[in-house]
Amino acid sequence: MNSTLYQAWLQYAPIKDEELAAVYSRLLGTVVADLQQSRVANAAIQELRNACRSMLGIVPSITSEVRASSYFEVRIHAADAEEGTEEIGEDSMGAGRVRLGAEGFRLEHRGHGQQEKLILTGGSGKGVLYGVFHLLRLLASHQPLTGLNITEQPVNGLRMINQWDNADGSVERGYSGHSIFYENGRFTENWDRVRDYARLLASVGLNAISINNVNVHEIETKFITAEYLPTIAQLADIFREYGITLYLSINFAAPLHIGGVPTSDPLNEEVRQWWKDTADEIYDHIPDFGGFVVKADSEHRPGPFAYGRDHADGANMLAEALEPHGGLVIWRCFVYNCMQDWRDRSTDRARAAYDHFTPLDGRFKDNVLLQIKNGPMDFQVREPVSPLFGSMKETNQVLEFQIAQEYTGQQRHVCYLVPQWKEVLDFDTYANGTGSEVKKIVDGSLHGMKYSGIAAVSNIGKDENWTGHTLAQANLYGFGRLVWNPDMSAEGIAEEWTRLTFGNDETEVAVVCGMLMRSWPIYESYTSPLGVGWMITPHTHYGPDVDGYEYSRWGTYHFADRDGIGVDRTVATGTGYTAQYFEPNAARYDSLEDCPDELLLFFHHVPYSHVLKSGKTVIQHIYDTHFEGAEAAAGLLKAWTSLAGKVDLERLTQVTERLADQAEHAKHWRDVINTYFYRKSGVPDAQGRTIY
Ligand code: GCU
Repeated sequence: MNSTLYQAWLQYAPIKDEELAAVYSRLLGTVVADLQQSRVANAAIQELRNACRSMLGIVPSITSEVRASSYFEVRIHAADAEEGTEEIGEDSMGAGRVRLGAEGFRLEHRGHGQQEKLILTGGSGKGVLYGVFHLLRLLASHQPLTGLNITEQPVNGLRMINQWDNADGSVERGYSGHSIFYENGRFTENWDRVRDYARLLASVGLNAISINNVNVHEIETKFITAEYLPTIAQLADIFREYGITLYLSINFAAPLHIGGVPTSDPLNEEVRQWWKDTADEIYDHIPDFGGFVVKADSEHRPGPFAYGRDHADGANMLAEALEPHGGLVIWRCFVYNCMQDWRDRSTDRARAAYDHFTPLDGRFKDNVLLQIKNGPMDFQVREPVSPLFGSMKETNQVLEFQIAQEYTGQQRHVCYLVPQWKEVLDFDTYANGTGSEVKKIVDGSLHGMKYSGIAAVSNIGKDENWTGHTLAQANLYGFGRLVWNPDMSAEGIAEEWTRLTFGNDETEVAVVCGMLMRSWPIYESYTSPLGVGWMITPHTHYGPDVDGYEYSRWGTYHFADRDGIGVDRTVATGTGYTAQYFEPNAARYDSLEDCPDELLLFFHHVPYSHVLKSGKTVIQHIYDTHFEGAEAAAGLLKAWTSLAGKVDLERLTQVTERLADQAEHAKHWRDVINTYFYRKSGVPDAQGRTIY
């Protein structure tokens, strides 16, 4: 497939500026390479050649000896390639000498005129791969190479994608068509698409993937057996070439279901042996297998609770089986009681993960990582940061984001999530006093953890453009870039993506970036207000249904009545959730006066007349944001259509259709929400606008 939709941010559009193209061609025409037979580095050079063919109309020649006067030298730092810890340069921030890790690279330009050279040094083949993709980004965004001198390394060790793909070809919470991995209970036959996916992931520095849904059904339970492992090994090989390690989600009850063992009790010797034998078999097929992702005792999935064991018992059993092979257990903390009784005001879903896991701190084996969703609920448009971050100082932690827009418009609405993710990463937990941001917990530095990182639920499928909405490609791109370096700005990432995806026309760049940057606040403004969340149609999670979950058992209430709205999570009168945070966050959230407006209804139940810091009452805020939000959604469509003639017809049409739907749907949201609260409260809109 060759369409602009399909190429995503690897368009490699021809560079029409002749002078610039000549400079690039002179430097890249000859590649002097010493790649020590690294497959990954060779894949990188192949990518470079293809990109040069497309952008510059040249195919670089590869040589081991310097013959040309200008050339591109690519090498793996031989002195310490294994360890990847050789001191070789200054980091890009000028912070002095840094050690080049195995995944790091250095790009340096030397000389001038006809005697120039560009040198790429990778700490390993992977470093070369990331360096080449970095260079290609510079080319595609028409940046000068003269004087280039940068050293980059990923801030986070584990940079992972979680596919929620099922063997039947469906994707749980997938909004971009069927799975690229499976169809009708089997693996798909043409894996070119998987390879292109691997290229996309590697191009933004991602290095791990779990290829099946965390809800592991019947067929997928058998993925860890000889019946499926040979095929999975082939998939692992495709990803391996792009520096990506393969993981599988497993069924905790596998010994019972497929192992012929009468139990799955993690302390049972037969069960433990079964997992060890299974691990041995997996590693026979996939020597560099990453490990297991586990959803246990969550939303009716099996787990250790059934046997009166805790999550440390469960995770450690698997860790013991993987340990001799260097494998990891990524154990999810999305554990809560989804059968709550609404009369019970003390049970609080938001509290659950912390209550379950904090007492287990220090009990997990070294190769266990706990994977924690960014918020305590479930990927809402606005939630506080999970109080688990920082609360476990002796446990490896992975942060989980959701690139798939389950609750944020399902890729029918545009919602650029990088600004939301940045707020999470920059959140100061105060776990070790000021400066204990989430990003320092998940990169392992705050508590000196052995393993750590960031994972996210993918948003891709078989749709031509991968992500359903073409602008949703920016979220996949942005996730990779942000986990590589959480200090990148959301604007900077949006701009990079736009240039690579649509080209360097400055008007186009400004319009698209502006749209992306406005999109999350706009989506928030016409959906559920002030952090209370939910209000979406149960199960599908698309479209407004204010009371859809209010009378169900999942524990996601807003408690709106004629007098007020919000969930009291304070210590004195509520569920006590606020106490799970370190001070001063605990006190700030607990206090009605200090709680930030955008999270007010998450933490407090207030009358509609409560005056926000903005000076508006809660009810007037609801009306205003919903009227403004629907208008702003229409504004996105208008902004986009101003690009007619600049964007190719394929993408222009695709995005126009989605934005037109969004504008209509935003009006629907506005009307449903406004009418609901007008009828509940009886308070009219101060501006007298139409509320049905
Ligand atoms: C959400 C989502 C489910 C998913 C679950 C999880 O609840 O709606 O489809 O399985 O998260 O993260 O495990």
